Amino acid sequence: MMIVTGLHWAAMPPSRVETVDVRTLHIKGEFVEGNLGTALESDGSVVVRLLAQQYSFEPQCIVVPANMPVTFRGTSSDAIHGFIVGTSNANTMLIPGFVATFTTTFPRTGEHLMPCHEYCGTGHEAMWARVQVVSQQEFLGQIRNTRRLSCVRR
Ligand code: CUA
Repeated sequence: MMIVTGLHWAAMPPSRVETVDVRTLHIKGEFVEGNLGTALESDGSVVVRLLAQQYSFEPQCIVVPANMPVTFRGTSSDAIHGFIVGTSNANTMLIPGFVATFTTTFPRTGEHLMPCHEYCGTGHEAMWARVQVVSQQEFLGQIRNTRRLSCVRR
């Protein structure tokens, strides 16, 4: 029993808990409006930053490449929210004061619905975003022209 427990902890260390100040979310730091959306980081990794609030996600339309690891980083500015992306394994809760993060890969191009899956109030049922999975080539072409990519119509 001890050995099993030891192996378990060796293979799955407790995830690092990152906190964020809800009071200054909109003013400074990682989750200001201009920093939300999909970024191609200097190390070549793809990171989606998003913010949940009653009753929407920002951005409401997210672009990601197929067949590349995509890291999501999100938080909430008010209640506890959460989301899943279509039938993929992307699934997290978004809790005020904490940064939720996970990395996943979307194997196929296409569009997914991204509904809130934690009851967050009267507008919960109407709280959802879309995720567009595009080819790697298309993604790299689109993100070349912008610091933060989304498919929100402007
Ligand atoms: Cu946000 Cu339910």
